[in-house]
Formats: sequence, structure tokens, C-alpha cells
Amino acid sequence: MRTPLIAANWKMHKTADEAVQFGEELASRMQSLEDASAVEVAIAAPFTALWALRDVLAHSPIALAAQNVHFEAEGAFTGEISAGMLRDAGCRYVVVGHSERRTLFAEASEIVARKARAALQAGLAPIVCLGESLPERESGRTLDVLGAQIRLSLDGVEADRAEQLVVAYEPIWAIGTGHTATPEMAQEVHAFLRERLIKRFGEPARGIRILYGGSIKPDSIRGLMAQPDIDGGLVGGASLDPASFFAIIRFE
Ligand code: PGA
Repeated sequence: MRTPLIAANWKMHKTADEAVQFGEELASRMQSLEDASAVEVAIAAPFTALWALRDVLAHSPIALAAQNVHFEAEGAFTGEISAGMLRDAGCRYVVVGHSERRTLFAEASEIVARKARAALQAGLAPIVCLGESLPERESGRTLDVLGAQIRLSLDGVEADRAEQLVVAYEPIWAIGTGHTATPEMAQEVHAFLRERLIKRFGEPARGIRILYGGSIKPDSIRGLMAQPDIDGGLVGGASLDPASFFAIIRFE
């Protein structure tokens, strides 16, 4: 009932030319898939590559995503980009609340919620990221921390828009470290998040995709995807090379 979503998060990598080259190669590899509709694929590219990628991906099943958005529609916000601008550039998704933004740019869950609401308002699907730190996990507080994060990060989101939401569980200790959560560890958290989403939004929350992210590699994706509440992946390092990203798309 939930189509898996595999999203590349390029972070601060790739010029427009490099993005185009990647997009062309991935689009051509995707033509070899027997059923390209069995999995949805998205690329969260830097802002500067969006317009160039839009043209390359237009005739492919690959969706375009941004990595951040401002919560206001327009105004005196130097350096910021609005959800409407991202729609204009061809985006379907936008990542909000990535742990790098939370920790390096002091983005609190309240800000993440404003961004998620602005995205939905503009017709973008926000990929709302959550995750615990290593000390939080080691002290047994993982579910408490995530319970608070999901509540605050979705504050004010209306139930009739809930189906557009995507949630990404990204344990901070697994991001870029090579330490993936085991499928069982991730499933425990995903089931917990699903239950919270259902409590919050009711039955439509069963359609919300919950992605796992954190050191996904071609050889770890299959075990993760076998879990009932893992509906896809947000892939950083392994998404920078078309061959390894394509292997992940195929769950190889
Ligand atoms: P990683 O990054 O796959 O390099 O761990 C994932 C992410 O930060 O979204």
C-alpha cells in the first residue's frame, strides 16, 4: 500500500554540470528496470543544480527534491529560498529538519514544523527528519527523544495533508559513520513512529512513508527494506555515485 521511496541526499556536493551528468546516467539505468513504478526515486540536490536537473529528469520517473526551505512565502530573508520557489524549480519533495541542520544551524523542531507546514501549503511533500544522538541511545532515551521530536516537528500540520508527509528516521550516530542501525533496531523505531503518526492523524497515517537513513549501502538496503515499517531510504554518501545509488534502488 506504500510505494517505497529511495531518496538521494547529496548534501553540499555536485555542481550543476555534475548533477546533469549523474541525472542522465541514472535516468538511463532506470530504463532497464522491469517495473519503474514499483519504487519511487528522488534526488535532493543543492539549490544551484535544481533547474539544470529539472530538465534532465523531466522525462524520467525520478523526482526532484531540495534539501532545505524557508518557512515564509517571500520577504526580506537574505539567503533563503521559499517553498514556492522550489515548486517553480520543479521540486516535488523537500528535506526538512535534517540532523546537520538541527545541530550545525541550530534548527529547532518548532522551526522544522514551520518549514513542513510551508512546504505542504505550497504543494511540496516534506521529508521530515528525526533522530537520536549516541548518548541519547546509550542512556535508553531513544523513544522519548523521538516521541518529542515527532510531536514538535509536525506541530500544526493538518490531518487532511498528512498523507503528503514523509518521515525519515536518521539516527545521528549512523549518519556518515558507516554504522548502520540493524534492521531490527530501525524497525523498532519505525513501528513506534508509525503508532505516533496514527495517534496524531488517524488511519490516513498508515499511508505515510517512513524512510530510514544513516550509512545505507547497496549491501544493507535489502535487510532494511524487508522490515514491515521501513518504506524506503534517505541515502547520503552512497547516493553520490550513480552505480551504487542504482544498486540501492534495486535493493541489491
Ligand atoms: P549517509 O547520510 O548515508 O552518508 O549516512 C544520510 C543522510 O544524512 O541523509
